[in-house]
Amino acid sequence: MKGLILAGGHGTRLRPITHTSNKHLIPLANKPMLYYAIETLRNAGIKDIGIIVGHTPQRIQEIKDAIGDGSKFGVSVTYIEQDAPRGLAHAIGVAKEYLTSNNADGKFVVHLGDNIIKGGIKKYVEKFSEPGIDSLILLKSIQNPNRFGVAEIKNGKIVRLVEKPQIPPSDLAMVGVYMLNSSIFDSIEKLKPSARGEYEITEAVQGVIDSGKNVHHEIIDAEWWKDPGDPDGILEANRFLLEELVPFNKGTVEEGSNIVGKVCIEEGAVIKKGSSIRGPVIIGKNCVVGENAYIGPYTAIGDNTIVNNAEIESSVVIGDCKIECKGRIIDSLIGKNVTIISSDKNSPKASKLVVGENSFLSI
Ligand code: G1P
Repeated sequence: MKGLILAGGHGTRLRPITHTSNKHLIPLANKPMLYYAIETLRNAGIKDIGIIVGHTPQRIQEIKDAIGDGSKFGVSVTYIEQDAPRGLAHAIGVAKEYLTSNNADGKFVVHLGDNIIKGGIKKYVEKFSEPGIDSLILLKSIQNPNRFGVAEIKNGKIVRLVEKPQIPPSDLAMVGVYMLNSSIFDSIEKLKPSARGEYEITEAVQGVIDSGKNVHHEIIDAEWWKDPGDPDGILEANRFLLEELVPFNKGTVEEGSNIVGKVCIEEGAVIKKGSSIRGPVIIGKNCVVGENAYIGPYTAIGDNTIVNNAEIESSVVIGDCKIECKGRIIDSLIGKNVTIISSDKNSPKASKLVVGENSFLSI
């Protein structure tokens, strides 16, 4: 069984961050989003993983630099380019040769690069590996499934899948993990672009159902499932993942600093006296949390960042930043190499920011 992670796409809802970087490399709890998908497949026993990387040379290189040949995860990674973001089904079609060659049971698991499922998918992959199953679709019961693919079930079988329906036929959203075999390719070849101009995975799986193949489904019991697509989604996923961390301190915590709750401090980080951190928080490598700095719950501070005389809470700072301003930064997503200082004017009490790479803000 092979794996395929879809990590192309423009991530338009995450601009300006995605103007300069691939959405799938945005860190959640200081770990690139894409790492979670690789680890999920590996933990389910899948060691051959293809990654669809889109077509922009700089973005492809960025992903290759972050993942390498996969050996650091204990897997073997093959990169596959997609000439343009034409939809998830198109991306799977592009990977046909990779997925069908040297694949003993002919089965594969497609994992969207932005989906994270608490507890992973091992037991579902085991079920899928049983003989006679052509496809296994994961569903989760949620309150408002309108922005997902939604399944209609009759007599224990999926009869219909609809992409982003205005009136959902059920509360069962399609999780971004699809267990498939080569029957999907016949279906993909017959697809036409949808109203949003994409070859939809939902329609491709519907084609497999309509052709009479054996399509199973499982309603997952995971405590949570996230597919962060916009800044609020990133902050939410970051919150959930920070909750999972086991606290550690590999850095230097000076006496007279105040650390409360679950806090992870990476190598080379210095937490100065007079500073205050309230977990869950992660502080990256070589960061400095200066005197009078306050880092509040649900914040991830990326490597090489200085927070001095500043307050920040419930935010993601990607890294290499300098934050030295009055007022409190809350619910913010701050790109790489950003400097935020105080202007001479009256600083705001609190700022909510989404700031792209290499920016300078005086607030
Ligand atoms: C995609 C799929 C949708 C699925 C979702 C899961 O949506 O088209 O069926 O439920 O992923 O994350 P998109 O993220 O492209 O809007």
